[in-house]
Amino acid sequence: MRGAARFRFRPVVETDLPRIMEIEAAGFLHPWSEALLRAELGHAWSIQRAAVAAGPDAGDRILGYVIFWLVHDEVHVLNVGTDPEARRRGVARALMEEAAAIGRGKGARLSTLEVRRSNAPAIALYRSLGYQEVGVRPRYYAEEDEDAIVMTLEFDSR
Ligand SMILES: CC(C)(COP(=O)(O)OP(=O)(O)OC[C@H]1O[C@@H](n2cnc3c(N)ncnc32)[C@H](O)[C@@H]1OP(=O)(O)O)[C@@H](O)C(=O)NCCC(=O)NCCS
Repeated sequence: MRGAARFRFRPVVETDLPRIMEIEAAGFLHPWSEALLRAELGHAWSIQRAAVAAGPDAGDRILGYVIFWLVHDEVHVLNVGTDPEARRRGVARALMEEAAAIGRGKGARLSTLEVRRSNAPAIALYRSLGYQEVGVRPRYYAEEDEDAIVMTLEFDSR
């Protein structure tokens, strides 16, 4: 079954922030703060989507989320995360596809993101979606002295 059929997407609202922070804390060395997440909800250029399981008995528990900016003709993915218990079920793939669909619908031509060099699962996810590695930002994650890989996906090419 395709991701879009197994999950539904909805905007993130303020009352979701504790749940989003839970997933952040489980997935990131430096999770976003609640203040930072709340600020995203207020930016006109920032779009957030939560994935929840589809179906009448599925409830509304967030399995994952994506946060991206839409600036000019570019989607810039800031953050995507899946609850550890819901991983490898296509949640992040579906969220990334949803972000791309929203961006394309609003005229975006490409998507860009940065990812830690060591984040093999995320790099595998982005590659599987067609993203290509186009550059490196040396020591972008200064605290760990770690490079960022810059990846892009041109929507027109697919
Ligand atoms: C990276 C992350 C978002 C993937 O979420 P997910 O919902 O488990 O991903 P999906 O199930 O949609 O996986 C889609 C594809 O990505 C790749 N992938 C995902 N996790 C992987 C892993 N642990 N190892 C190798 N490939 C992986 C695979 O190609 C996978 O397809 P497959 O399952 O058919 O092989 C998740 O591991 C996570 O939340 N990590 C912590 C936060 C993070 O690093 N976010 C990204 C940086 S912003």
